[in-house]
Amino acid sequence: MEQPSSLGSGIKESSARSSASGRATVVLTAMVAALGGLLFGFDTSVISGAMLFLRTDFHLSDAQLEFAVGIALAGALMGSASAGYCTDRWGRRWMLLVTALGFGLFSVLSGLATGLVSFSIARFFVGACIGVASLAVPLYIAEMAPAKIRGALVSLNQLAITVGIGVAYFVDYAFAASESWRWMFASAVLPAIVLLIGMIFLPESPRWLARKGFRDRALENFRRLGRGEEAEAELAEVEGALQEEVEGFGILLQPGFRVAVLVGIGLAILQQITGINTIIYYVPTILRMSGYPSAKAAILGAAIVGVANVLITVVSMALVDRLGRRFLLLLSTAGMGLALAFMGAAFYQKAASSVVFYVVIAYIISFGIGLGPVMWLLISEIYPTKIRGKAMSLAALSVWGSNWVVAGTFLSLLNHAGPARTFWFYACLCVVAFVFCYVFVPETKGRTLEAIEHHWRHFGEKPGATS
Ligand code: BGC
Repeated sequence: MEQPSSLGSGIKESSARSSASGRATVVLTAMVAALGGLLFGFDTSVISGAMLFLRTDFHLSDAQLEFAVGIALAGALMGSASAGYCTDRWGRRWMLLVTALGFGLFSVLSGLATGLVSFSIARFFVGACIGVASLAVPLYIAEMAPAKIRGALVSLNQLAITVGIGVAYFVDYAFAASESWRWMFASAVLPAIVLLIGMIFLPESPRWLARKGFRDRALENFRRLGRGEEAEAELAEVEGALQEEVEGFGILLQPGFRVAVLVGIGLAILQQITGINTIIYYVPTILRMSGYPSAKAAILGAAIVGVANVLITVVSMALVDRLGRRFLLLLSTAGMGLALAFMGAAFYQKAASSVVFYVVIAYIISFGIGLGPVMWLLISEIYPTKIRGKAMSLAALSVWGSNWVVAGTFLSLLNHAGPARTFWFYACLCVVAFVFCYVFVPETKGRTLEAIEHHWRHFGEKPGATS
């Protein structure tokens, strides 16, 4: 039987000390894995500042530029579609290792591109890594986190995404003066290396190990992750749930799990079609449209939006395990709807550009407090262990598919319907999101993943009979 390595002196060690060091290991593990989220955020938004220079250097037409920008999303679609199968088969840790390698390699290759073709190939694979990371990071963190702080730990992923987006704005801003777009892309190699080295040392998800029948290693990893005397009990709970699970997608056809799939896919689509990336990708354009004096001022405005996005995610992390997922989602979708309604009105009445800026900040704050982090959290919590990876793939695919549609239609919508109607349209979709969350989303705060699974298994059997 293998020894619980980080506990070192074994069972005699004071349980207080071991659980403190275990808690530190859990937090550190989540922080390292979240670097995958940082790369997701960085690589999706670094292009916004770089595209102006790409266009000139590679002499791109509008259509070619759109292709160069959109190709990473195509990669993300492919990555998220295949990541579920791969994480279920080869493990969460291995997939994160491979993803870190891919991020490093293809970020450098994007920076070294000599023309549209080599650039697009490199960015496609960066996109594939983004797709894998978008699912593997929350999945890995959720499976190793204790129930009480799972919300905060999984939301570290969203925090890292927002930091990545913020860093990309600053990197773009810093390199804009010298027009060094190559460095904008290549700088992602640094977090990729840290993620790679970190993942070499981090433990595999104990839930995945249990599912694969590696009982001793699962127990060892639960102990490394601070479970102490509760490790056996948690493993027994995981094994109990695994015994009830049907192999394959068949499980998703059970009535309760069908609802879980609907909730996951619905939240994923709603997170995107309520317009977040029209702001994230196009905020300099929106600010310029509202009357900002120069591109530089608009990029600086975007950087401030990025900082607000980071700060509000920290607030959300502090609240999500106390106030619960549902409350934050409802608050969030209501706030986003109101902000977008005001945004439409600001453009309609040709209000001062500062008004538009404040409304953008209000929208970001509303998104960051709930729908941003909580969507990724919920889709890592609501599926049974045996198919968690594959089921998350469906939700992640829905994120990237709808992201593609929104990013690809936003500018045409602006041109045809004008900014006021466009933002009012997204405001209406926030109303749909609010109703959806109110009706369908369950509260998962403080429950183990197995207790949540039990809830779906017995969904609709008898009111109040679920755990
Ligand atoms: C979304 C991304 C978005 C980011 C902004 C994430 O939760 O999935 O599409 O760009 O939040 O913070």
